[in-house]
Amino acid sequence: METLSTVDAVRARVEQWRAAGLRVAFVPTMGNLHAGHMSLLAAARYRGDRVVASIFVNPLQFGPSEDYSGYPRTLDEDQLLLQEARCDLLFAPSVADMYPHGGDQRTLIVVRGLSDILDGRFRPGHFDGVATVVAKLFGIVAPDVAVFGEKDYQQLLVVRHMTLDLALPVEIVGAPTVRAPDGLALSSRNRYLSAAERARAPVIHHSLSQAVRAIYGGSSEHAELEREGSLMLERAGMSVDYFAIRNAADLSAASAESSDLVVLTAVRLGRARLIDNLRTHRP
Ligand code: PAJ
Repeated sequence: METLSTVDAVRARVEQWRAAGLRVAFVPTMGNLHAGHMSLLAAARYRGDRVVASIFVNPLQFGPSEDYSGYPRTLDEDQLLLQEARCDLLFAPSVADMYPHGGDQRTLIVVRGLSDILDGRFRPGHFDGVATVVAKLFGIVAPDVAVFGEKDYQQLLVVRHMTLDLALPVEIVGAPTVRAPDGLALSSRNRYLSAAERARAPVIHHSLSQAVRAIYGGSSEHAELEREGSLMLERAGMSVDYFAIRNAADLSAASAESSDLVVLTAVRLGRARLIDNLRTHRP
Protein backbone atom coordinates (compact mmCIF):
# COMPACT_ATOMS: atom_id res chain seq x y z
CA MET A 1 0.00 0.00 0.00
CA GLU A 2 1.18 3.44 -0.93
CA THR A 3 0.63 6.39 1.43
CA LEU A 4 0.40 9.85 -0.15
CA SER A 5 -0.24 13.17 1.54
CA THR A 6 -0.53 15.69 -1.28
CA VAL A 7 -3.49 16.39 -3.54
CA ASP A 8 -1.39 16.38 -6.73
CA ALA A 9 0.22 13.01 -5.98
CA VAL A 10 -3.16 11.35 -5.35
CA ARG A 11 -4.63 12.85 -8.53
CA ALA A 12 -1.68 11.59 -10.59
CA ARG A 13 -1.93 8.04 -9.21
CA VAL A 14 -5.70 7.77 -9.69
CA GLU A 15 -5.44 9.21 -13.22
CA GLN A 16 -3.06 6.36 -14.12
CA TRP A 17 -5.58 3.79 -12.87
CA ARG A 18 -8.48 5.42 -14.69
CA ALA A 19 -6.46 5.56 -17.91
CA ALA A 20 -5.98 1.79 -17.54
CA GLY A 21 -9.77 1.39 -17.26
CA LEU A 22 -9.73 0.42 -13.58
CA ARG A 23 -12.68 1.12 -11.27
CA VAL A 24 -11.78 3.12 -8.14
CA ALA A 25 -13.58 2.60 -4.81
CA PHE A 26 -13.12 5.06 -1.92
CA VAL A 27 -13.57 4.91 1.87
CA PRO A 28 -13.18 8.27 3.66
CA THR A 29 -12.38 8.05 7.41
CA MET A 30 -10.95 10.01 10.30
CA GLY A 31 -8.69 7.10 11.28
CA ASN A 32 -8.43 5.16 14.55
CA LEU A 33 -9.77 2.30 12.47
CA HIS A 34 -11.87 -0.54 13.89
CA ALA A 35 -13.89 -3.46 12.49
CA GLY A 36 -16.64 -1.05 11.37
CA HIS A 37 -14.22 0.78 9.08
CA MET A 38 -12.78 -2.57 7.94
CA SER A 39 -16.23 -3.72 6.77
CA LEU A 40 -16.38 -0.63 4.53
CA LEU A 41 -12.94 -1.51 3.14
CA ALA A 42 -14.22 -5.04 2.35
CA ALA A 43 -17.26 -3.58 0.56
CA ALA A 44 -14.95 -1.25 -1.40
CA ARG A 45 -12.61 -4.13 -2.29
CA TYR A 46 -15.62 -6.00 -3.69
CA ARG A 47 -16.77 -3.02 -5.78
CA GLY A 48 -13.52 -1.62 -7.12
CA ASP A 49 -10.37 -2.74 -8.93
CA ARG A 50 -8.42 -0.27 -6.79
CA VAL A 51 -9.26 0.84 -3.25
CA VAL A 52 -8.41 4.25 -1.82
CA ALA A 53 -8.89 5.14 1.87
CA SER A 54 -8.41 8.56 3.41
CA ILE A 55 -7.54 9.46 6.99
CA PHE A 56 -8.19 13.07 7.85
CA VAL A 57 -9.49 14.45 11.13
CA ASN A 58 -11.46 17.27 9.58
CA PRO A 59 -11.40 20.42 11.76
CA LEU A 60 -14.30 21.92 9.76
CA GLN A 61 -16.79 19.38 11.17
CA PHE A 62 -15.93 19.83 14.87
CA GLY A 63 -17.61 22.48 17.04
CA PRO A 64 -15.48 24.75 19.25
CA SER A 65 -16.26 22.70 22.40
CA GLU A 66 -15.89 19.30 20.69
CA ASP A 67 -13.10 16.71 20.75
CA TYR A 68 -11.02 17.81 17.70
CA SER A 69 -7.66 18.04 19.51
CA GLY A 70 -8.32 14.94 21.65
CA TYR A 71 -9.64 12.81 18.76
CA PRO A 72 -7.55 9.58 18.67
CA ARG A 73 -4.82 9.68 16.02
CA THR A 74 -3.24 6.24 15.43
CA LEU A 75 -1.72 6.40 11.93
CA ASP A 76 0.82 3.56 12.34
CA GLU A 77 -1.75 1.00 13.51
CA ASP A 78 -4.22 2.25 10.89
CA GLN A 79 -1.69 1.72 8.09
CA LEU A 80 -1.16 -1.91 9.15
CA LEU A 81 -4.91 -2.56 9.22
CA LEU A 82 -5.38 -0.97 5.78
CA GLN A 83 -2.55 -3.08 4.38
CA GLU A 84 -4.22 -6.24 5.73
CA ALA A 85 -7.48 -5.13 4.09
CA ARG A 86 -5.60 -4.91 0.75
CA CYS A 87 -6.10 -1.17 0.43
CA ASP A 88 -4.04 0.16 -2.52
CA LEU A 89 -3.66 3.80 -1.59
CA LEU A 90 -3.97 5.79 1.64
CA PHE A 91 -4.49 9.52 1.33
CA ALA A 92 -3.40 11.09 4.63
CA PRO A 93 -3.22 14.85 4.10
CA SER A 94 -2.29 17.51 6.64
CA VAL A 95 -4.73 20.28 7.55
CA ALA A 96 -2.64 22.67 5.42
CA ASP A 97 -2.95 20.32 2.39
CA MET A 98 -6.73 20.29 2.71
CA TYR A 99 -7.28 23.89 3.84
CA PRO A 100 -4.51 26.00 2.27
CA HIS A 101 -6.26 29.20 3.36
CA GLY A 102 -6.22 28.14 7.02
CA GLY A 103 -9.42 28.60 9.01
CA ASP A 104 -10.82 30.93 6.36
CA GLN A 105 -12.78 28.37 4.31
CA ARG A 106 -15.08 30.50 2.16
CA THR A 107 -16.81 27.70 0.29
CA LEU A 108 -19.23 25.57 2.29
CA ILE A 109 -21.72 22.95 1.16
CA VAL A 110 -25.01 23.14 3.04
CA VAL A 111 -27.62 20.45 2.54
CA ARG A 112 -30.60 22.45 3.69
CA GLY A 113 -33.31 20.77 5.74
CA LEU A 114 -31.11 17.74 6.40
CA SER A 115 -28.01 19.30 7.98
CA ASP A 116 -29.87 21.29 10.61
CA ILE A 117 -32.12 18.62 12.18
CA LEU A 118 -31.43 15.85 14.76
CA ASP A 119 -27.63 15.71 15.16
CA GLY A 120 -27.33 19.00 13.25
CA ARG A 121 -29.37 20.78 15.94
CA PHE A 122 -26.92 19.66 18.61
CA ARG A 123 -23.82 20.12 16.44
CA PRO A 124 -24.40 23.33 14.45
CA GLY A 125 -22.25 23.39 11.29
CA HIS A 126 -21.18 19.75 11.70
CA PHE A 127 -22.82 18.40 8.54
CA ASP A 128 -21.72 21.46 6.53
CA GLY A 129 -18.17 20.48 7.49
CA VAL A 130 -18.83 16.85 6.52
CA ALA A 131 -20.49 17.68 3.18
CA THR A 132 -17.73 20.14 2.31
CA VAL A 133 -14.83 17.80 3.10
CA VAL A 134 -16.49 14.82 1.37
CA ALA A 135 -17.11 16.89 -1.78
CA LYS A 136 -13.50 18.02 -1.66
CA LEU A 137 -12.23 14.46 -1.17
CA PHE A 138 -14.40 13.33 -4.11
CA GLY A 139 -12.80 16.13 -6.19
CA ILE A 140 -9.32 14.91 -5.27
CA VAL A 141 -9.78 11.13 -5.41
CA ALA A 142 -12.35 11.11 -8.25
CA PRO A 143 -13.72 7.68 -7.23
CA ASP A 144 -16.35 5.72 -9.15
CA VAL A 145 -17.92 4.51 -5.90
CA ALA A 146 -17.64 5.55 -2.23
CA VAL A 147 -18.72 3.54 0.83
CA PHE A 148 -20.23 5.05 4.01
CA GLY A 149 -21.52 3.39 7.19
CA GLU A 150 -25.23 3.30 8.09
CA LYS A 151 -24.01 3.81 11.68
CA ASP A 152 -23.92 7.53 10.80
CA TYR A 153 -27.29 7.41 9.07
CA GLN A 154 -27.88 11.16 8.85
CA GLN A 155 -24.36 11.62 7.43
CA LEU A 156 -25.07 8.95 4.78
CA LEU A 157 -28.22 10.85 3.71
CA VAL A 158 -26.39 14.21 3.69
CA VAL A 159 -23.69 12.69 1.43
CA ARG A 160 -26.28 11.05 -0.86
CA HIS A 161 -28.19 14.34 -1.29
CA MET A 162 -25.03 16.38 -1.79
CA THR A 163 -23.80 13.96 -4.47
CA LEU A 164 -27.15 13.99 -6.26
CA ASP A 165 -27.68 17.77 -6.03
CA LEU A 166 -24.17 18.55 -7.34
CA ALA A 167 -24.38 15.78 -9.99
CA LEU A 168 -21.10 14.29 -8.80
CA PRO A 169 -20.29 11.11 -10.76
CA VAL A 170 -19.89 8.96 -7.64
CA GLU A 171 -22.05 5.99 -6.66
CA ILE A 172 -22.79 6.13 -2.88
CA VAL A 173 -23.01 2.78 -1.10
CA GLY A 174 -24.28 2.33 2.48
CA ALA A 175 -22.82 -0.49 4.60
CA PRO A 176 -24.46 -2.08 7.68
CA THR A 177 -23.44 -1.13 11.22
CA VAL A 178 -20.84 -3.40 12.85
CA ARG A 179 -21.54 -4.03 16.55
CA ALA A 180 -19.78 -5.53 19.55
CA PRO A 181 -21.32 -8.87 20.67
CA ASP A 182 -23.37 -6.99 23.32
CA GLY A 183 -24.91 -4.72 20.67
CA LEU A 184 -22.87 -1.52 21.12
CA ALA A 185 -22.06 -0.02 17.72
CA LEU A 186 -18.29 0.18 17.19
CA SER A 187 -17.02 3.76 17.30
CA SER A 188 -13.70 5.52 17.82
CA ARG A 189 -15.45 7.46 20.59
CA ASN A 190 -16.17 4.29 22.64
CA ARG A 191 -12.64 4.61 23.97
CA TYR A 192 -13.75 7.68 25.97
CA LEU A 193 -15.95 5.35 28.13
CA SER A 194 -14.85 4.15 31.58
CA ALA A 195 -15.32 0.41 32.33
CA ALA A 196 -18.54 1.18 34.23
CA GLU A 197 -19.88 3.35 31.39
CA ARG A 198 -18.95 0.74 28.78
CA ALA A 199 -20.95 -1.85 30.77
CA ARG A 200 -24.07 0.37 30.54
CA ALA A 201 -23.62 1.36 26.88
CA PRO A 202 -25.50 -1.65 25.33
CA VAL A 203 -28.71 -0.01 26.61
CA ILE A 204 -28.46 2.24 23.54
CA HIS A 205 -29.01 -0.74 21.23
CA HIS A 206 -31.68 -2.18 23.58
CA SER A 207 -33.67 1.07 23.51
CA LEU A 208 -33.60 1.16 19.70
CA SER A 209 -34.53 -2.53 19.48
CA GLN A 210 -37.45 -2.00 21.85
CA ALA A 211 -38.89 0.72 19.57
CA VAL A 212 -38.27 -1.38 16.46
CA ARG A 213 -40.08 -4.38 18.01
CA ALA A 214 -43.06 -2.21 18.97
CA ILE A 215 -43.31 -0.73 15.45
CA TYR A 216 -42.96 -4.16 13.91
CA GLY A 217 -45.68 -5.36 16.30
CA GLY A 218 -48.02 -2.75 14.82
CA SER A 219 -47.65 0.26 17.14
CA SER A 220 -47.81 3.70 15.54
CA GLU A 221 -47.71 5.55 18.88
CA HIS A 222 -44.44 7.20 17.91
CA ALA A 223 -44.46 9.91 20.59
CA GLU A 224 -44.99 7.30 23.29
CA LEU A 225 -42.28 5.03 21.90
CA GLU A 226 -39.89 8.00 21.78
CA ARG A 227 -40.66 8.78 25.45
CA GLU A 228 -40.11 5.15 26.46
CA GLY A 229 -36.80 5.02 24.59
CA SER A 230 -35.53 8.23 26.21
CA LEU A 231 -36.62 7.03 29.65
CA MET A 232 -34.77 3.73 29.26
CA LEU A 233 -31.57 5.62 28.37
CA GLU A 234 -31.97 8.16 31.18
CA ARG A 235 -32.48 5.36 33.71
CA ALA A 236 -29.10 3.98 32.61
CA GLY A 237 -27.53 7.34 33.50
CA MET A 238 -27.35 8.78 29.98
CA SER A 239 -28.28 12.28 28.94
CA VAL A 240 -30.44 12.05 25.80
CA ASP A 241 -30.03 14.61 23.00
CA TYR A 242 -32.81 12.97 20.95
CA PHE A 243 -34.62 9.68 20.48
CA ALA A 244 -36.61 9.97 17.26
CA ILE A 245 -38.67 7.82 14.90
CA ARG A 246 -38.42 9.23 11.37
CA ASN A 247 -39.01 8.38 7.71
CA ALA A 248 -35.88 6.58 6.54
CA ALA A 249 -35.87 8.31 3.13
CA ASP A 250 -35.42 11.89 4.35
CA LEU A 251 -35.64 11.92 8.18
CA SER A 252 -38.97 13.80 8.04
CA ALA A 253 -41.56 13.19 10.80
CA ALA A 254 -43.07 9.71 10.55
CA SER A 255 -46.83 9.20 10.45
CA ALA A 256 -48.96 6.12 11.13
CA GLU A 257 -48.89 5.50 7.34
CA SER A 258 -45.08 5.61 7.04
CA SER A 259 -43.65 2.18 6.29
CA ASP A 260 -39.89 2.67 5.84
CA LEU A 261 -38.66 4.00 9.19
CA VAL A 262 -35.48 4.63 11.13
CA VAL A 263 -35.14 5.05 14.89
CA LEU A 264 -32.22 7.30 15.81
CA THR A 265 -30.68 8.37 19.09
CA ALA A 266 -27.79 10.44 20.43
CA VAL A 267 -26.75 10.27 24.08
CA ARG A 268 -24.03 11.61 26.26
CA LEU A 269 -22.41 9.10 28.59
CA GLY A 270 -19.48 10.36 30.64
CA ARG A 271 -17.08 12.11 28.25
CA ALA A 272 -18.53 10.40 25.17
CA ARG A 273 -21.34 11.46 22.86
CA LEU A 274 -22.62 8.32 21.12
CA ILE A 275 -25.07 7.96 18.21
CA ASP A 276 -26.82 4.89 16.86
CA ASN A 277 -29.87 3.94 14.78
CA LEU A 278 -31.91 0.99 13.53
CA ARG A 279 -34.00 0.76 10.35
CA THR A 280 -37.40 -0.89 10.39
CA HIS A 281 -40.44 -1.49 8.20
CA ARG A 282 -44.01 -1.30 9.35
CA PRO A 283 -45.57 -4.60 8.26
P1 PAJ B 1 -15.32 8.16 10.78
O1 PAJ B 1 -16.08 8.41 12.04
O2 PAJ B 1 -13.90 7.74 10.87
O3 PAJ B 1 -16.12 7.06 9.99
C1 PAJ B 1 -15.70 6.69 8.69
C2 PAJ B 1 -16.75 5.78 8.09
O4 PAJ B 1 -16.88 4.59 8.88
C3 PAJ B 1 -18.15 6.44 8.06
O5 PAJ B 1 -18.78 6.16 6.82
C4 PAJ B 1 -18.86 5.76 9.22
O6 PAJ B 1 -20.26 5.71 9.07
C5 PAJ B 1 -18.25 4.37 9.17
N1 PAJ B 1 -18.40 3.66 10.45
C6 PAJ B 1 -18.03 4.09 11.69
N2 PAJ B 1 -18.38 3.18 12.63
C7 PAJ B 1 -18.99 2.15 11.97
C8 PAJ B 1 -19.59 0.90 12.38
N3 PAJ B 1 -19.64 0.53 13.66
N4 PAJ B 1 -20.11 0.09 11.42
C9 PAJ B 1 -20.08 0.48 10.10
N5 PAJ B 1 -19.53 1.63 9.66
C10 PAJ B 1 -19.00 2.46 10.58
O7 PAJ B 1 -17.61 9.56 9.49
C11 PAJ B 1 -16.49 10.09 9.42
O8 PAJ B 1 -15.34 9.47 9.85
C12 PAJ B 1 -16.28 11.49 8.85
O9 PAJ B 1 -17.42 12.26 9.11
C13 PAJ B 1 -15.97 11.49 7.32
C14 PAJ B 1 -17.12 10.89 6.51
C15 PAJ B 1 -14.67 10.74 7.05
C16 PAJ B 1 -15.79 12.96 6.86
O10 PAJ B 1 -14.80 13.60 7.57
